[in-house]
Amino acid sequence: MKELIKKLVETTGPSGFEHNIREILRKEVEPYADEIRIDNLGNLIVRKGVKTDSNKRIMISGHMDEIGVMVTHVDENGFVRFAAVGGINPLTCVGSRVRFMNGSVGVISIEFGTFGEFFGIQKPTLDKMYIDMGASSIKDCPVKVGYVAAFDRPFEDLGKRLVSKAMDDRIATAIMAQALKDMKSTVNEVYFVFSTQEEVGLRGATTSAYSVDPEIGFAIDVTPTIDTPKGAFNDVKLGNGPAIKVKDSSLVVDPRVVSWMEKAAVKLDIPHQFEVITAGGTDGGAINLTRGGVPAGCISVPTRYVHTPSEMVDYEDVLNCVKLTVELASQPVNLD
Ligand code: CO
Ligand code: ZN
Repeated sequence: MKELIKKLVETTGPSGFEHNIREILRKEVEPYADEIRIDNLGNLIVRKGVKTDSNKRIMISGHMDEIGVMVTHVDENGFVRFAAVGGINPLTCVGSRVRFMNGSVGVISIEFGTFGEFFGIQKPTLDKMYIDMGASSIKDCPVKVGYVAAFDRPFEDLGKRLVSKAMDDRIATAIMAQALKDMKSTVNEVYFVFSTQEEVGLRGATTSAYSVDPEIGFAIDVTPTIDTPKGAFNDVKLGNGPAIKVKDSSLVVDPRVVSWMEKAAVKLDIPHQFEVITAGGTDGGAINLTRGGVPAGCISVPTRYVHTPSEMVDYEDVLNCVKLTVELASQPVNLD
């Protein structure tokens, strides 16, 4: 599974430009799917099983896009100004490299003189930053207004932990692909949706939830752990197992969904924890609010340093997320 994770996280695919990720996943899941379609927003929608009178139509969503930057201006010396695509943390930008969809690479830095602020107390802002593409003028700059890039950082296997850019949310797409492979059969009709444009407002999940029309659903996404020096306020810890979401700012999870997930984890005897966060949302929020409303939740992958170029997950947690996903997708659903 690590090989697929590496391939997914090292490929560039910011919101709205997920096509290379989609191609990797489509090849990966094709042999295991009953039906595959791609909708108008680029969601890869993979069905397994058929709907009957007694089973459930389940939607599972993990987003293919990652945070990135978009060119807003190139000056006559070839320096590139940019805007965020999704929630970029300015503290992690200076010194970072970005890779554009056309393959060109640049280095982010900040206006001379603001470095004092950067190493001091003030938080740097994106409007003081620029990307140096190695160009000497606007004429030889390989990018122009509207070009889009994502952070560029290789995957590293630290043994117990894996670190890379774009673990949010490629790790979920790898979990879903692996779950589909491991799931020999299902009593349900399951839709694995590899969604687009989550980081800019749950857009792919919004349209795919409407077309899939699930009876129950959940997202798989990362959740921040603050189990680091001077960390506090968040109970979720790396290595303590899949986090069953109870609430975030996009979703109050139906308690029946929380208990459905908890029972499955207990049955499998896998470690698990519960997640309450005050900021951030997932595709689960979009599933919840589609049509007349759908009971929805989220399996969160505990992750350190979310929305930085070095997002860290625990490999045991990842494998347990696969097991939990297979169980929820394949077994009869009883909400009580
Ligand atoms: Co994110
Ligand atoms: Zn995410």
